[in-house]
Amino acid sequence: MFDRLNLTEDLLDCRGGLVARRGTVLSAEAIAEAARKAPSRPRVALEDGPLVDDVELPFADRAYRHLFQGEGIRDAVRNAFRAIRLPEILWEKLAATRRAAPHLHVHALVTTAVSVRMLLSAVSSPRGVADLAAAALLHDLGMCHLPPRLLRHSEGLDSDDAVRVASHPLVGAFLLAALLGPHPAVVAARAHHWRCGQGYPTLEKAPSRSIEVISVASAFAALTQPRPFRAPYDARGALDVLAREVIAQQADANTVKLLAHALRGGGGDPRTIRFGREREGHGPEVHRYVHVSAPSRSPV
Ligand SMILES: [Fe+2]
Repeated sequence: MFDRLNLTEDLLDCRGGLVARRGTVLSAEAIAEAARKAPSRPRVALEDGPLVDDVELPFADRAYRHLFQGEGIRDAVRNAFRAIRLPEILWEKLAATRRAAPHLHVHALVTTAVSVRMLLSAVSSPRGVADLAAAALLHDLGMCHLPPRLLRHSEGLDSDDAVRVASHPLVGAFLLAALLGPHPAVVAARAHHWRCGQGYPTLEKAPSRSIEVISVASAFAALTQPRPFRAPYDARGALDVLAREVIAQQADANTVKLLAHALRGGGGDPRTIRFGREREGHGPEVHRYVHVSAPSRSPV
């Protein structure tokens, strides 16, 4: 079982403040404890922070034109972004990521826009959309703590590097717990690679539907963006991959149906969608990626 790890170096926030010392065990209990102890920090709205102009980016990318058709949909997504309120230190962290690792920043923005769009497929005026949007924007923050060479990797990883990559949900969840306190972003960070129990880390129970929405949106965002080991899938090609994961029980069927429903323009009831084995989309011709496998057990 891989459900905890030992920090191999100090975990610092973006101002250089110590969040956890090297050697700290990051586990579900430690993350909950960090959230309980987190000081209350004033929150700043997205429109008063450094990312205000970035909200339009997912709409400008033709890869997502089927998802964001119509000013009503785009306004609903914009409003969800604008409703995000975070401590200033997290806006600083996101702005630093935009400078240091632009592809992670694009990933966060696209995951947020797609998550909100999927939620709109389930409910026309969803409650808690600001928290869902914040959680989606922050879900992959742990990736910023990987060595830069692992962000650029183009081939399979050796076992040490695979453990480092597989550590990012726990690192991100701990960091967010310490900076935000209890928040859906902490759960999203820890659970977004769970893959119905076939990913990492091991969870005590399946995450809620809104966290599954973020996981599926994150996978879709990753597939539709270029990576060093492949060109991007188009939106339908990415949906084909996710439909195969549903059949292999690596993705939640009802959640992927919300994405299919949004991609098809939002008509009808998403629950009636059926995944066949025929494929409609396009994928890259060269693809050197191998999924990071879940380590079989925790190193501590
Ligand atoms: Fe991730």
